[in-house]
Amino acid sequence: MTDDARRRFATYEDVDDVSVNPSIAPDFQEVLFRRLTRRGLLAGSLRTAAAGAAAMAVPGLVAKDAFAGTDRFDFEEIAHGIDGTHHVAPGYDADVLLRWGDALFPDSPSFDPSHPSAAAQERQFGYNNDFVGFVPLQRTGDEVTRAVLCVNHEYTNAELMFPGLGDPAATEPRFANMTLALVETEMAAHGGSVVEIVKVGGKWQVDTAGTRNRRISARSTECTIAGPAADSPRLKTAADPSGRRIIGTFNNCAGGITPWGTWLMAEENFNGYFMGDVASSGREAANHERYGVPGGWYAWGLFHDRFDVSKEPNEPNRFGWIVEVDPHDPGSVPVKRTALGRMKHEGAECLVDREGRVVVYTGDDQRFEYLYKFVSEGTVDPGNPAANRDLLDRGTLSVAVFNDDGTVIWKPLVHGQGGLDESNGFASQADVLIESRRAADILGATPLDRPEDVEGDDQGNVYVLLTNNSRREPAEVDAVNTRSKNLWGQIIQLRVAGNDHAAPVCEWNALVQCGNPDDPVTHARWNPATSENGWFACPDNCAVDHRGRLWISTDQGSGWHKASGTADGVWALETEGERRGTGKMFFRVPAGAEMCGPCFSDDDTTLFVAVQHVAADGMEHYPGFERESTFDDPATRWPDFDPALPPRPSVVAITRQGGGQIA
Ligand code: FEO
Ligand code: CA
Ligand code: CA
Repeated sequence: MTDDARRRFATYEDVDDVSVNPSIAPDFQEVLFRRLTRRGLLAGSLRTAAAGAAAMAVPGLVAKDAFAGTDRFDFEEIAHGIDGTHHVAPGYDADVLLRWGDALFPDSPSFDPSHPSAAAQERQFGYNNDFVGFVPLQRTGDEVTRAVLCVNHEYTNAELMFPGLGDPAATEPRFANMTLALVETEMAAHGGSVVEIVKVGGKWQVDTAGTRNRRISARSTECTIAGPAADSPRLKTAADPSGRRIIGTFNNCAGGITPWGTWLMAEENFNGYFMGDVASSGREAANHERYGVPGGWYAWGLFHDRFDVSKEPNEPNRFGWIVEVDPHDPGSVPVKRTALGRMKHEGAECLVDREGRVVVYTGDDQRFEYLYKFVSEGTVDPGNPAANRDLLDRGTLSVAVFNDDGTVIWKPLVHGQGGLDESNGFASQADVLIESRRAADILGATPLDRPEDVEGDDQGNVYVLLTNNSRREPAEVDAVNTRSKNLWGQIIQLRVAGNDHAAPVCEWNALVQCGNPDDPVTHARWNPATSENGWFACPDNCAVDHRGRLWISTDQGSGWHKASGTADGVWALETEGERRGTGKMFFRVPAGAEMCGPCFSDDDTTLFVAVQHVAADGMEHYPGFERESTFDDPATRWPDFDPALPPRPSVVAITRQGGGQIA
């Protein structure tokens, strides 16, 4: 979910946009800049505004052609800009594969947005596609020709989904025009889709007869819970005295595919779905405050008691987890894996370390929150999926402390260690996990500028995307640090020696500092080989392709006009050699959209991208439109451009014309 989406909800400014972290640990931006100035961001020099370069006392600008290097990405860059449609590099096709409302089953009702229906929505592709996971099923020669796509549906934009509604948070009283039927439709549009796809004539198409096809929703999908917090009384509710039967998962942002082929869905901004008054004192009061509960972004609590914290104070504790789904069995029960902690999980990409343990890095996406990693106790058995089934239930969750000597110290969230004991109100490991944020505060974790996606390769490189932090005050940065009010974000690289992710220490360095390098205000830092279209702002999701190369997607939200002035998209980013820190633009989204997904097929011949909340964000600044965008009056009607249809979040499959690997 983006700032703009949150901003529509009146309480957002009060609850979420303002940090809820009371920690006073050293500020990461300060650490970053100390490190940048001591070692230099890039091996030789920087592409940065001259004023910034002088202020930073780093090597000056170098002419662009002095940095030829070897471009590892074989495509012709596209231009910055913003308009009503998508754009891809020349020589590539970007085909819309799955749209909100598309049929997933032979009996799915046809898409009829003028008559919202929860029952229909549960048989159709959901709203606001975010994570895309690819699980291959069949190969023909070297090429994957049948696969399962696992797609998260993070949230809904009521003003763009429902005719004649407008912004339901802007009514007086709030949500006055929301009905049970609309709320149920919203709930049905959340969650995820499992879809079988087949490649015919070089193009992917949906197979509605696929036996694995499934909708997971916030409305009807029964989930269970496992791991150390599973038996906690803090997860029990009036409707579920077992504490183990949770209906639904929601705000599933990014995620991951495990080495054994299951799908991890990351529950992110769960706080926004709760309303009501939290008790003025007691342990859940403090717990909920630390997570921004209740957010009050949705009307669900008007119709369902469990989303009203005054009636059901434990319900929020049942969300904010990583959820594991077996995409091969549509009857399987999704499992919330509590060992990975409870927070606003951005994603959950998996790596396997040198011992065969599974490693999941996960960012807690809010201003001044932390970076975590989970390392399993057991090892992966690649040939035996059943043996891996509960691998995510036992292991160690740690949180990152960044030091200005270039090291990261990982502090374990283990009950009884480091003050995580009765003296601080943690009676068990369950308490530590339910209150992961507070545990991490006590361990002295480093507050970051909104940690989003984290992905790595098998060589011990891990990329951490910090999207922005507009709330950083000048007093929080030192003389060298010009990035208070950081609208642009930065990308950090971890170096894990020997691919030993269980090690308590690793190294870190800065890869790029985002924003326009020709604007002195930004103090952006890029390799000088970066073109006027190669830089970007607000890195959010990423993918490492099967050749170890990094691709970034962006989400500037409603602040796009201030952050870059160009629409979001996908950029290739060099991570090694002379061109390290060079960006190159590959794909651009339509106005108002955020770029999610990026996911390569196992053969690297397809890049799947998720165009989320098209026509939604910051449209009052979209030249020529400049007003609120709604179902009846949208900024664009991508992808159908049918006057009878609203804009539709969609997954796009990008392939090379004539076939072959991407770039
Ligand atoms: Fe759902 Fe942090 O983006
Ligand atoms: Ca986002
Ligand atoms: Ca995201």
